Amino acid sequence: EAAPAILPSLLQCDFGNLEREVRRLEDDGCQGLHLDVMDGVFVPNISYGMPIVDAIRKLTDLPLDVHLMIQDPGGYAQAFSDAGADLLTFHVEAVDEIAPVIDNVRSLNMGTGLVLNPGTAIDAVTPFLDQIDVVLVMSVDAGFGGQAFNPVAIDKLKALRAIKPDLILEIDGGVNLGTIGSCREAGADLFVVGSAIFRSSDYAAALDRLRAEVQR
Ligand code: DX5
Ligand code: ZN
Repeated sequence: EAAPAILPSLLQCDFGNLEREVRRLEDDGCQGLHLDVMDGVFVPNISYGMPIVDAIRKLTDLPLDVHLMIQDPGGYAQAFSDAGADLLTFHVEAVDEIAPVIDNVRSLNMGTGLVLNPGTAIDAVTPFLDQIDVVLVMSVDAGFGGQAFNPVAIDKLKALRAIKPDLILEIDGGVNLGTIGSCREAGADLFVVGSAIFRSSDYAAALDRLRAEVQR
């Protein structure tokens, strides 16, 4: 289990002022950034790819947690490594053969994580827990920010925590002041937050309120 950290998801940031957004989050004490990559195939939405990850890499030394919502994560692992990803997570629903993709990511010296959509049981990741660093449990169907938290994620966090006490557990989707406390109690270490930060005019205050809920 890692020290708890809130990772802002930049999906809803002001991309016209990316440097200012990153600087603000650094100044507000964030310990990493969550970058959502969508290909319009695995999910019905397109976000951004390697050039934005690369641009953010040049702006900050913060760890970059790259969440791939793409059909062919193995085919792009090298490109995201080159762009500066520190942790690369990919969906088990996207690939037929998971083990070779894990090996590929690990060989590129990135942290490796498997992601589960709400409809996918934890059995899809349990055979791989000794080969990976993180399990990312989705509490919304991947594809869009601003969706409501699906509590099925809570049971998955608890089950995974029971199976492997030192596994790093990440939660993503609908995490806000009303849901973050139960995620912490269920064993999450890393909390991805989009709307609850970026729809606020004062990111620092939003982050402080969220941190207070995690530390309670
Ligand atoms: C959804 C993304 C999330 C999203 C979170 O596919 O993986 O990271 O940006 O945004 P909120 O916190 O608004 O659910
Ligand atoms: Zn995400």
